[in-house]
Amino acid sequence: MSGTDAIRSGPRAGVAGWPVAHSRSPIIHGRWLAKHGIAGSYERVPVAPDGAEAFFATLARGDFAGLNVTVPHKELAARACDALEPVAAALGAANTLWVENGRLYGTNTDVEGFLANLDEGAPGWDADPGPAIVLGAGGAARAVIHGLASRGFAPIAIVNRTLDRAALLTGLAPVASAHGYEDLPKLLETARFVVNTTSLGMNGSPPLDIDLTPLDPAALVTDIVYVPLETPLLALARARGNPVVDGLGMLLHQAVPGFERWFGVRPTVDAALRAEVLATFA
Ligand code: ATR
Repeated sequence: MSGTDAIRSGPRAGVAGWPVAHSRSPIIHGRWLAKHGIAGSYERVPVAPDGAEAFFATLARGDFAGLNVTVPHKELAARACDALEPVAAALGAANTLWVENGRLYGTNTDVEGFLANLDEGAPGWDADPGPAIVLGAGGAARAVIHGLASRGFAPIAIVNRTLDRAALLTGLAPVASAHGYEDLPKLLETARFVVNTTSLGMNGSPPLDIDLTPLDPAALVTDIVYVPLETPLLALARARGNPVVDGLGMLLHQAVPGFERWFGVRPTVDAALRAEVLATFA
């Protein structure tokens, strides 16, 4: 038996996207496979947009035990599933797939990842939920809005450059409303929670240029951008005394349910995993 056959003797999983070369998921799952001594595999699966529909349509054959799905295929993956867990149906996007009895199932673990990161980084953060601000209205914002509503945050103000895109997301939660950036100063006066879901602040992108002056220093500020770990938004918030949680834990925690489903062991997110993934950004 060749080395590759030996590795493939267990369940085969991976991450499908375009591009996927940058994905840290193989590092996360590879570490857990090694830690638990599981003879499975987890690989990068590049799926070009023009072949994506055909690719997801054949998954139920069982070439893979399951897959993570990343940009830009989460919506297409949800449509390809024979059945979706309620959270994936609500978001219209699946990031975790598995095959069972020749049927393709999907869920969305971004909500769980977002919430678990805050539970870990700011225990009790949702004890007295109040007004929240979500900056951005893309795919990540959908999971964040769903998660905040599930923990009782209200009202949820979605602030976006393109108002129409924010308006599209208000259907996710009855407590959500759509705003342009001109409303931000007023919204900050009462906010208990602020999250950036835009790509602004990421290495290579301009910073998110907002003035936090009206925000209560007790309000929690978080970012889903994790490269750099301390984004300009988090640095600004920390400097004025706000509690902050960085976004790396969302990436790590969203991986847990998939690994458990494919490989049968619920893994833990610990400091060593965080350090290993962080080192790849250096
Ligand atoms: P994802 O699905 O990963 O969240 P996306 O759908 O491309 O990514 O969404 C990116 C978000 O960043 C959007 O809210 C986008 O605002 P628009 O809807 O107006 O495009 C926001 N964004 C990106 N660049 C921006 C910029 N220069 N200023 C303000 N918002 C920006």
